Amino acid sequence: MDLVCWLQLFLAFAASSVTLAQESQGPYHQIYPPVNDTDGRTPLYIAVVLSFGGSSYKSVGALPGIQIALDYINSEPSILPGYSLHYTLTDSQCDRSTAIRSYFTQITNPPTKVGWVGSGCSPATEPTAELTQYHNIAQVSCVSSSPDLHNRQRFRYYFQLLSTDAPIAYGFYSIIQYFGWKRVGIITQGENLFIATSDVLKRLLTENGNIEYTEWYFRSEESVSNISIFDSGVRIYVVEMYSINARELFCKAYRSGILPPKYLFLTPNWYVEGWWAEGHTSVDYNCTADELAAVALYNVAPFLAEFPEIDDAVAEPNITLREFRSLYYKAVQSDYNENNRLMEYSDYIFPYAYHCHEATLTFAYALNKTVTDLADDFLNREAAEESGLPEGETFTMANFTYANSGIVTRMFEHLQNTSFRGIGVSLCSYYLHVI
Ligand SMILES: *[C@@H]1O[C@H](CO)[C@@H](O)[C@H](O)[C@H]1NC(C)=O
Ligand SMILES: *[C@@H]1O[C@H](CO)[C@@H](O)[C@H](O)[C@H]1NC(C)=O
Ligand SMILES: *[C@@H]1O[C@H](CO)[C@@H](O)[C@H](O)[C@H]1NC(C)=O
Ligand SMILES: *[C@@H]1O[C@H](CO)[C@@H](O)[C@H](O)[C@H]1NC(C)=O
Ligand SMILES: *[C@@H]1O[C@H](CO)[C@@H](O)[C@H](O)[C@H]1NC(C)=O
Ligand SMILES: *[C@@H]1O[C@H](CO)[C@@H](O)[C@H](O)[C@H]1NC(C)=O
Ligand SMILES: *[C@@H]1O[C@H](CO)[C@@H](O)[C@H](O)[C@H]1NC(C)=O
Repeated sequence: MDLVCWLQLFLAFAASSVTLAQESQGPYHQIYPPVNDTDGRTPLYIAVVLSFGGSSYKSVGALPGIQIALDYINSEPSILPGYSLHYTLTDSQCDRSTAIRSYFTQITNPPTKVGWVGSGCSPATEPTAELTQYHNIAQVSCVSSSPDLHNRQRFRYYFQLLSTDAPIAYGFYSIIQYFGWKRVGIITQGENLFIATSDVLKRLLTENGNIEYTEWYFRSEESVSNISIFDSGVRIYVVEMYSINARELFCKAYRSGILPPKYLFLTPNWYVEGWWAEGHTSVDYNCTADELAAVALYNVAPFLAEFPEIDDAVAEPNITLREFRSLYYKAVQSDYNENNRLMEYSDYIFPYAYHCHEATLTFAYALNKTVTDLADDFLNREAAEESGLPEGETFTMANFTYANSGIVTRMFEHLQNTSFRGIGVSLCSYYLHVI
């Protein structure tokens, strides 16, 4: 399997104490960039939906990545000639019903959205990806990785920039094999994202490794600390859940004396740095950051490899990873200064900012190709009819309505056909990251 082509030890120290501000909505622009300054170009809007936190996963740190992309798109007239591109932002709280509410907020309020970027995590993306097809909106997600989303029948106009999360199971498996562990525990949260990964891991353990496992399962509405885990005698645990639930689990572990080096936890690669210290008020897990760090200090995660040598490779649009990072930190810094408040660490410094940057660019390219298609008389007449334009009026993208099934078909084809060299780190390897 290509995905395990590397196994490299990478040692770092736990960031000792990250002081975090209270949960807050933060200084996020509701519409970006402001629409008063478009030089006579016609504004188009995409819906951006990310998770600001809630009781679960937080992805709003990807936002500056989207802003950097929009700044570029709007400053470079050849990308989308005649138009400017903006987002309207709502919050999904990484929660199914909030995501649906967000969906209808976006749809029932003007302006009309010509695309959807979101919705901030897999459980929030799933219902919106089912809905966008009914309003003829093409959707690109840059944070979700649930294998369930790979269902073209259910999610007709949906794309995602991340590969499915299930391959991380190969990372877990290779770590377990590398250390010769003979018995492990798997604790799975009841979301498709985690269930699918655990299923792959269980198959690998059984078929390839003959490694014994014990499994526990909890629904998202339940409390992981309510299940009895630590009297099982298992010493190695694979943790397939959101980090907020992992904090609760680690707190229980701490209280139960389940501590490294005797006991070890393997966590997903996408938890943010310092995740155990994140401030959350919605779940009372009653442990301090230091107590959680005592458990987390030796946790092991298979990580997507980042290759430092691509720092200076020029990606499209003429940007290097190094330049992107510097723009990203500048955006974070200016929000910090203007608003004079400390942003939560994990609000920013978000690994998927790259992917969301590229999702936005992908949209701009697909929109431009669709605009180009509309020079064709037949297509233009069809689109004009679908959106109910008066007889004889030429259709432009500004006339898009949720009845334009012809437009979304074009968008879909172009999204499918877009490829460019991005700055996002990708490639095949997971490596072992010990924090
Ligand atoms: C556009 O609006 C923003 C705030 O809404 C303002 O700061 C900016 O100066 C305006 N730009 C122009 C060119 O009017
Ligand atoms: C956008 O479309 C125009 C033609 O409609 C084309 O000249 C331009 O190169 C396109 N931009 C990009 C970035 O492909
Ligand atoms: C955990 O268990 C206790 C006692 O059995 C129960 O009162 C509580 O509601 C449970 N909490 C959750 C979140 O399941
Ligand atoms: C929280 O932990 C402290 C010990 O650190 C304990 O005294 C207290 O009873 C705990 N509270 C709850 C609600 O479990
Ligand atoms: C790319 O960016 C660099 C530095 O920002 C600039 O010197 C160069 O001219 C740019 N190239 C193109 C093709 O725009
Ligand atoms: C169609 O879009 C153009 C701008 O490109 C606008 O002037 C016109 O009013 C729109 N027509 C309708 C019916 O909204
Ligand atoms: C997709 O891209 C290929 C190669 O760039 C091109 O030949 C093909 O016509 C494209 N298809 C569409 C629907 O644009």
